[in-house]
Amino acid sequence: MKAIGFERHLPVDHPEAFRAFDLAVPEPGPHDLRVAVEAVSVNPVDTKVRAPRHPDPDHPDNRADLSPRVLGFDAVGVVDAVGSAVTRFQAGDVVFYAGDIGRPGSNAEFQLVDEAIVGHAPRAIEPDAAAALPLTALTAWETLFDRLGLDPDGADAGAPILLINGAGGVGSMAIQLARAAGLTVIATASRPESQQWCRELGADEVVDHFGDLPAQLAERKFTAVPAIACFNDLDRHYPAMAQLVAPQGRLASIVGNKSPLPFQELRDKSVGFFWEYMFTRPRFDTPDKHRQGEILDAVASMVDDGRLVTTRAETLGVISADNLRAAHRSLEAGHVIGKLTLAGFED
Ligand SMILES: NC(=O)c1ccc[n+]([C@@H]2O[C@H](COP(=O)([O-])OP(=O)(O)OC[C@H]3O[C@@H](n4cnc5c(N)ncnc54)[C@H](OP(=O)(O)O)[C@@H]3O)[C@@H](O)[C@H]2O)c1
Repeated sequence: MKAIGFERHLPVDHPEAFRAFDLAVPEPGPHDLRVAVEAVSVNPVDTKVRAPRHPDPDHPDNRADLSPRVLGFDAVGVVDAVGSAVTRFQAGDVVFYAGDIGRPGSNAEFQLVDEAIVGHAPRAIEPDAAAALPLTALTAWETLFDRLGLDPDGADAGAPILLINGAGGVGSMAIQLARAAGLTVIATASRPESQQWCRELGADEVVDHFGDLPAQLAERKFTAVPAIACFNDLDRHYPAMAQLVAPQGRLASIVGNKSPLPFQELRDKSVGFFWEYMFTRPRFDTPDKHRQGEILDAVASMVDDGRLVTTRAETLGVISADNLRAAHRSLEAGHVIGKLTLAGFED
């Protein structure tokens, strides 16, 4: 089968950073689906896993541990074969999933994935539009409802939530999920086009994350916000998050900090701080990892009944080394709005 991968962690423009390989079609384990991949999207995590470990391209630290390493953490495809213990799917089902960072990814004609973390793909949109969704939908859902403890069914309707980086892949899903839960959504974006994107997805207010966030929220009569999620640059935004969070509120971040954060500031307000890492459930094989399959099924039905729209901003063409390089280059530049997708393989 065709697969795009690498044997060494290299800078995006190195000729061997992305290569086509001819690999054996994998055999499913008992709980696996083998999926014929139709479309994928590219996430910042792909660029982080691909990135060089050492400035010298030939340094042993740059050798990929799984060789070749096939990336891709978002897929839509058709189930081609199922393992002996699979119960939820059969050959021919159209599925979507993010997968497991410890296994070969979706930039290949066939991929194995544990059925527990797979959803039935939305029927109302094309595979390429659906491929934009799984990783960011899981991250946004887990952030809002599993970490910040908000109610997806509307019990928190009307409460404000601040989403820092509204126009990226995760923010674009979080705005929509928060709106669907009835929350008042304050999203951040810094450019006219990213601000407009947030409004179109349903943000009630849009403020600039490079400006003074507490001042901009005060102008809009928000002085204390019970739930705040950070989807970019936690070091920069933590002081404003700590200042703005309401007593007994919650903060969540999907991005790590580079410097120590003064967590004591949260003590007097009895504020909780939660990390969200979308790969936690598959990576640690948690007893509730099947929640990811359930979340994806819920997301698919919300797409099918019109409560969520795709966040695909651009389709870059077939799943090839050149097109994946272009996607990584754009993501590394840091200005992508929504998601970049690719569909089909070269003949
Ligand atoms: N923990 C997890 O499970 C998980 C899951 C998914 C993603 N992530 C991580 O979360 C981050 C976001 O990923 P993503 O796919 O949502 O989006 P992304 O592609 O990284 O987001 C791009 C957007 O970030 C905004 N941005 C740039 N600098 C910023 C800053 N200093 N503060 C706030 N926003 C800034 C830009 O908006 P403007 O142009 O409007 O400034 C840009 O449009 C990445 O680091 C990714 O690796 C983590």
